[in-house]
Amino acid sequence: MPSSLNQAFARGRRNDRFPDDFIWGVATASYQIEGSRRADGGADSVWDAFSRKPGAVLGGMNGDLACDSWNRWREDIELLRGLGVEAYRFSLSWARILPEGRGKPNRAAIDWYRRFLEALLAAGIEPWVTVYHWDHPNCLEEEGGWPSRDMALRYGEYASVCFREFGDLADKWITLNEPWCSSLLSYDRGFHAPGLHDKAAAYRAVHHHLLGHGLAMEAWKADTPIGSVPTGKAGKGSPQIGIVLNLGLPRPATRREEDKEAASRAGDEATALFMDPLHGRGYPERHLAAYPGLSMPVQPGDMEKIAAALDFIGLNYYSESVVEAVPVSKEHPEGFREIESFHDKTEMGWPIVPGGLARMLRIVHETWKPKALYITENGCACPDLPDVDGRVRDKDRIDYLRSHLEVCEEAIAEGIPLKGYFEWSLMDNFEWAWGYSKRFGLVHVDFKTQVRRPKDSYNWYREVIAGHGLET
Ligand code: FCB
Repeated sequence: MPSSLNQAFARGRRNDRFPDDFIWGVATASYQIEGSRRADGGADSVWDAFSRKPGAVLGGMNGDLACDSWNRWREDIELLRGLGVEAYRFSLSWARILPEGRGKPNRAAIDWYRRFLEALLAAGIEPWVTVYHWDHPNCLEEEGGWPSRDMALRYGEYASVCFREFGDLADKWITLNEPWCSSLLSYDRGFHAPGLHDKAAAYRAVHHHLLGHGLAMEAWKADTPIGSVPTGKAGKGSPQIGIVLNLGLPRPATRREEDKEAASRAGDEATALFMDPLHGRGYPERHLAAYPGLSMPVQPGDMEKIAAALDFIGLNYYSESVVEAVPVSKEHPEGFREIESFHDKTEMGWPIVPGGLARMLRIVHETWKPKALYITENGCACPDLPDVDGRVRDKDRIDYLRSHLEVCEEAIAEGIPLKGYFEWSLMDNFEWAWGYSKRFGLVHVDFKTQVRRPKDSYNWYREVIAGHGLET
């Protein structure tokens, strides 16, 4: 091959809109894919206990088997390799690593994750490790869970075990996944484990998640063997740690001042409540003032720990809601309510609004100026029935992903430091309270036979990655 042609292929890109160091990945989480909950010394997590509660998960489904990844992990790595991803975001199971919530780590689980990490590295895939994606040991829930301060300390210790045990194999770390869900959705809305309806407890849980995150940041600085991990574009001796959030920044229903104001108030709970303290600005007083019974259980020194400098913020983006102003009342203590969006919806009933991602990236960039941003989850649930020939023609997912990647291109062009994109998810899996009824995967999983079948979107995303961007 003439060398000029070689060079052209070596560059291997379709357009110049994504910078050279932009990272392409996919994401999963332990409870959603692993199965074999009690194997190798694992204990029940809060999700095991929750899914046994009648009515908690659709159809009484649970994560006992999930995608059986605890046994089929080699197949998963082959799928990742076939897809050509540079990075894989997955989570460690706290209930496996510290089955008693504290004390001596469980060697069998640690060995499993070490084998897995080594195999990823051998396949040239950079591990992006989420320390906590909601499956803490149920024994800690029985001791009070996140509303109790002790949970933050236990989490800090657990994170430190992870950094020490795996720090030589992974240098991209995420402390928490979507603490809004594991606090408010779990202890206030009751939709996620442990399924409580106690607002005061949920706000204590928010603070303890953030404190746990701060303690993990301290441990990471102390325990990470800097620059020891061999792979990855960003891996060249540049360990990074961040947090993943599902921010909510609803758009105003109209241009009227009161609706704009209402939308800004509606951003307090899922956005400012986390982003402000993480950036040294304390908790949003306007928000807390709307709930006079609530207080954040802050102790001296907490807020400094929470505000430890982050290398990046990971954003999970799926949708955007709409709010309008209403008079303050018991039902609407913050003076807004959500209204129906006219956009087409995914199987989750979530409106498809790529423009919402653009807004979110701009607002986050302008307001808090994080050093780097990653889309750590983006994707959609579709019906995904295999055709007679076994092929899953998930054109809707391709359209969804394309429209959101176009937004990423625009954001980068505007100078927003967006450094990577992780599609959710590698494969269909246990979608929390929805059980197996919602399919987010690029790979179809037959949950009876565990047969994995790449969908059309898998092949499409493979081409995007191969070309380092969308076709022009
Ligand atoms: C996010 C979760 C992830 C997955 C997607 C659909 O909130 O982080 O585990 O369930 O939603």
